[in-house]
Amino acid sequence: MEKYRKVRGMHDVLPDEGIKWNFFEKKAKEVCELFGFNQIKTPVVEEKNLFERGVGEQTDIVSKEMYVFKDRKGRELALRPEGTASVVRSYIENQLYLKEKISRLYYFGPMFRYDRPQKGRYRQFYHFGVELFGGKHPFFDGEVIYLLSSIFKKTGIKNYSFKINSLGCSECKLKYSEKLKDYFQNYKGQLCDDCKIRLEKNPLRILDCKNKNCREISKKAPEIEEILCNNCKKHFDKVIEYIKEMDIDFKIDKSLVRGLDYYTRTVFEVFIEGEENAVAGGGRYDNLVSQMGGPETPAVGFAIGVERIIPYIKDEKEDRAIYCVFIGEEAKLWGVKNLSKVREKGICLIFDYEERNLKNHLKIYNRENRKWCIIIGENEMKNNQVILKNMKSGQQFQISVENLLDGIKEKMKC
Ligand code: HAM
Repeated sequence: MEKYRKVRGMHDVLPDEGIKWNFFEKKAKEVCELFGFNQIKTPVVEEKNLFERGVGEQTDIVSKEMYVFKDRKGRELALRPEGTASVVRSYIENQLYLKEKISRLYYFGPMFRYDRPQKGRYRQFYHFGVELFGGKHPFFDGEVIYLLSSIFKKTGIKNYSFKINSLGCSECKLKYSEKLKDYFQNYKGQLCDDCKIRLEKNPLRILDCKNKNCREISKKAPEIEEILCNNCKKHFDKVIEYIKEMDIDFKIDKSLVRGLDYYTRTVFEVFIEGEENAVAGGGRYDNLVSQMGGPETPAVGFAIGVERIIPYIKDEKEDRAIYCVFIGEEAKLWGVKNLSKVREKGICLIFDYEERNLKNHLKIYNRENRKWCIIIGENEMKNNQVILKNMKSGQQFQISVENLLDGIKEKMKC
């Protein structure tokens, strides 16, 4: 028989890891809600040109990594490679700007990029992201950075730090682009074929080319800082003031340009010590909403690469599940009836209806490294009680059916 395997670049999240995923999702959502953010869910499939226009045709994400296909009516569609363009589309389409002055949104879901798979790099991966629309003040950039840092703190992530830079407003970016063009023109012959096109269309993207030669040439390229206008400088200084005040660990990195076209002014990435790849990235994008047909709306956001965070989440969950063993047919129904009430009160009960003797049941639980079990046999039914056993310590307790919930809670404390 042919054995099926997962598609290259895709991955399964198995139950042990699933616990960490749930923990991360829950805590990240809690933190977002403390900051006044609400969830938005957008579809995985969007029109292809949403990303071409939104993220940029010359970006690797769009030009090389996007999953594109035609539906049965010949519409050109794409699996979303990132969330920002989709959220902007939804923000405009649903006129959220009419509802509130500032919209604070978060999302959690799969993204797709036909990237070269390697450790921490998948073709389907999850983003936990936020987008804040309508906030112009640099402290909004600071707050989004602080929110990101708070999510890491809340989920027990340590040793992370921010790299931060400013790409300037559209005028600064335009000037910078011209300056880069002049610089790279001198090396045209040595650039890769893609960068030769970028040189004409979008020289900034040469800075994130992965080709060895292009990277070498980029090292000496002019830096944006030389071009920033006074307003952009002031904006950046204010962001820095905020994050210093909030004790965020950061470094200014003048070479940070991010791989997406929509950014203006602040851009940032987060790195965990010893890791080469960023675990999160984001920035301000003040022109995207208007470029996509909405009103002038400043915006700032970030996305966390969830797969890159999960290995750093400690598995601290204590085993609170109780495995229930019934000896004999009659005990099964008796047990289900009496125990289910306890489950309704929030205690995890796992029933095993298979016919085995007690010794074999316990052998299996020992092998599976389970901690708690409840045993119900003839005697227990007769005395209207159950046995709660701690498989690790070997201790056993008899708990009467009348006092089941409190009895279990009390004994599981020890
Ligand atoms: P991004 O930097 O392209 O930004 O993605 C954010 C994070 O997703 C990265 O820092 C990385 O941790 C993770 N990531 C990217 N590609 C992969 C992959 N192939 N496999 C696993 N993880 C990956 C954005 O997408 C922007 N939309 C973020 C943003 C929101 N900017 C403003 N608002």
